[in-house]
Amino acid sequence: MAAPRALLAASLLSPLLSPLLSALLSPLLSPLLSAVPAGAAPSPVPRNVSVLLEPGSERLRVLPGRHPGAVAWASLDDRIPHVGWAFLEVATNASYNDSLQAYAAGLAEAAVTEQLMYMHWMNTMVGYCGPFKYESEYCQKLRGYLEANLAWMEEQMEKGRDTEYWHQVRLALLQLKGLEDSYNGRLDFPRGRITLAPFGFLLLQLGGDLEDLESALNRSSPQRVLGSGSCSALVKLLPGQRDLLVAHDTWSSYQAMLRVVKKYTLPFRASAGGKSQIPGSIQVFSSYPGTIFSMDDFYILSSGLVTLETTIGNNNPALWKYLEPRGSVLEWLRNIVANRLARSGPEWAAVFRRFNSGTYNNQWMVVDYNAFTPGRASPAPGVLTVLEQIPGLVVVADQTKLLYQQGYWASYNVPYFEQIFNTSGNLELVRKYGDWFTYDKNPRAQIFRRNQTQVHDLDSMIRLMRSNNYLQDPLSRCRGCDPPQNAENAISARSDLNPANGTYPFPALRQLPPAGIDMKVCQPGSPAHPTGAPPGAVQPVPSADSLPCSVSPLQVTSSGMVPSFGLVAVSGPAWDDVPPFRWSTSPLQLPAPHGPPRPLDLPPSQGCSSLPRATEEPPAAAGLRARAGPSSRSHPPPPPPPPPCVLWTEPAPPSRGSAVGEDKQGHPRGQQVIPAPGTSHRTAGNASPGDIPGDSR
Ligand SMILES: *[C@@H]1O[C@H](CO)[C@@H](O)[C@H](O)[C@H]1NC(C)=O
Ligand SMILES: *[C@@H]1O[C@H](CO)[C@@H](O)[C@H](O)[C@H]1NC(C)=O
Ligand SMILES: *[C@@H]1O[C@H](CO)[C@@H](O)[C@H](O)[C@H]1NC(C)=O
Ligand SMILES: *[C@@H]1O[C@H](CO)[C@@H](O)[C@H](O)[C@H]1NC(C)=O
Ligand SMILES: *[C@@H]1O[C@H](CO)[C@@H](O)[C@H](O)[C@H]1NC(C)=O
Ligand SMILES: *[C@@H]1O[C@H](CO)[C@@H](O)[C@H](O)[C@H]1NC(C)=O
Ligand SMILES: *[C@@H]1O[C@H](CO)[C@@H](O)[C@H](O)[C@H]1NC(C)=O
Repeated sequence: MAAPRALLAASLLSPLLSPLLSALLSPLLSPLLSAVPAGAAPSPVPRNVSVLLEPGSERLRVLPGRHPGAVAWASLDDRIPHVGWAFLEVATNASYNDSLQAYAAGLAEAAVTEQLMYMHWMNTMVGYCGPFKYESEYCQKLRGYLEANLAWMEEQMEKGRDTEYWHQVRLALLQLKGLEDSYNGRLDFPRGRITLAPFGFLLLQLGGDLEDLESALNRSSPQRVLGSGSCSALVKLLPGQRDLLVAHDTWSSYQAMLRVVKKYTLPFRASAGGKSQIPGSIQVFSSYPGTIFSMDDFYILSSGLVTLETTIGNNNPALWKYLEPRGSVLEWLRNIVANRLARSGPEWAAVFRRFNSGTYNNQWMVVDYNAFTPGRASPAPGVLTVLEQIPGLVVVADQTKLLYQQGYWASYNVPYFEQIFNTSGNLELVRKYGDWFTYDKNPRAQIFRRNQTQVHDLDSMIRLMRSNNYLQDPLSRCRGCDPPQNAENAISARSDLNPANGTYPFPALRQLPPAGIDMKVCQPGSPAHPTGAPPGAVQPVPSADSLPCSVSPLQVTSSGMVPSFGLVAVSGPAWDDVPPFRWSTSPLQLPAPHGPPRPLDLPPSQGCSSLPRATEEPPAAAGLRARAGPSSRSHPPPPPPPPPCVLWTEPAPPSRGSAVGEDKQGHPRGQQVIPAPGTSHRTAGNASPGDIPGDSR
């Protein structure tokens, strides 16, 4: 939509300019500003703000810098032009009540990320239910659905039952409200109902839910493409049960490559009047500007859980009847609530499955590092819980045994549970199109099965998760395709490389924008909870130490050294064995996205490449391949500096040697297997939808 220059113009608007004003002005100004040269753009600097409650007046103020006594604090380190990620930290002060903390957390986040939010909105959502009466019938249905759903949730919150659950829903909505209010320059803590505009920043939370709402509400051009994958994931038990690695690749549109790794420290109470703090008060996750959950999804939680999913979707139209705005909570919220409240896989599943919306239908994996003991061959249950959701049905099972038998659990957009597989229309797809749609013979099922045996450390895990060698790999072959080697059939898809004039049996194998756009891996490798307490002891307040993969302090190193543990996050499409994606040469002819100041023609992220900016040299041979040894391909020799992978890590812990197997025995949560279930503002009016959120209400 907007010309590449226009987006630069937007990013040049002073951060001090009121966001509302800049939001209103930038589309108008862009043609005028389009002459501004890229070089004039300021280089991003770390930013931080505090949200303060004015004593007496009860008014909130957002001030630059870090202030003692603040309700919330946020800092942004925008390294998108360099490593493809911005790093956001948001923390709140537990001495204020939860509602205020949640709202202030939203205020603080928007205050430091508003420019990214603007750009991400323009890249992904600006035309959605926009002003041009496009899909207006669908948009009306969607608006009605969302309004009815918000109203029903408001009723539940007012009823005061189920206080834990609805307290957390309320806090998530308050956080979103704070985000939106801050962006629009009006700070007003809502004392009564929370009024959220259906087509405001709520849309940035709904990416996954909309895929299914579009089908259910008969959008004439739904986003979802038959068979099109969305994400790859691998849980890998290293030989000798030495360690457990968890990795995730997001498959998404190239337009969604403005990425933010977020760390939230939100010490909420479990229930409104309660004293105990939620177990998941600290969360580290890969995300997007203006999105208060991951959406990828990949979370590292202070409860000791790592949660992640790949999308399975629903291919049985008869199930859409289960989508009801009343009695359901959309997936993004159920996800937030489960991540905050759960202390184990079964608890997570019990919270998540409630009020199943039938939207954003995923295979979830919940890895509980409290239940994992390095070196132990016969595990207690609870290390891996798998949940699959489709409209009207959720199936959950402990898959620890299978994980230990196979040495891995892979996830690639195909349901595992037979009941889910059958009910969601996959038998029909297998009949029509064959093995590609089966759980066992899908290309990625086979690639994971073949290659997981070669994973023995972090480096080999990264190599597998970043891999796409579709031209050479016999498992990337597609029967009935011309050309036969297909770039979708790999762990990190590059569907943009499939020729437009090819012949493909079903849409997912065509030339498409979705591709693998990142990779995250968690390798704990150290006692997750160094302060072991005796079983039954009072749960300590979570601290950063309790994250399964230590990611504290937030620290980005650009060293090529692989640390012994931590979170590694790589942004950008795979390019180990394939040409790197470039906006200029991509046959997809995508509009270049809005982005932070950077040479327009570079890939939005260079991932692990070590290329200097502003060149057209492909970042191919650098990075992981360079570390993995000489390339067998005829790339030019890798440039000298080691790949600046984004690593969040602490110094390596003392050798784990003899401690293996005993590290966590003293930890209380390891022993406690928790049993499964039982357990203001202006109103929408005649909006000009599709504008910047905020001017439409
Ligand atoms: C906060 O931002 C200021 C500049 O805006 C910077 O000097 C300071 O170091 C930052 N503080 C933190 C803790 O990031
Ligand atoms: C939290 O707020 C209280 C009350 O204003 C203040 O005493 C305390 O220092 C604050 N804590 C932090 C970590 O800022
Ligand atoms: C939380 O604190 C704010 C500000 O002091 C206050 O207005 C509000 O009533 C408190 N409680 C709740 C539940 O919002
Ligand atoms: C969508 O279309 C189907 C089939 O035409 C119809 O049965 C269903 O009622 C429609 N749903 C909505 C929400 O319009
Ligand atoms: C699923 O369908 C297959 C093939 O028709 C059948 O053999 C199997 O029993 C079904 N399983 C379930 C749980 O419905
Ligand atoms: C996967 O396995 C095949 C066959 O052993 C091998 O050629 C290929 O290099 C492996 N790929 C990765 C990324 O490890
Ligand atoms: C598709 O296009 C490419 C180049 O544009 C051409 O080389 C190739 O022969 C075409 N293939 C078919 C099947 O038309």
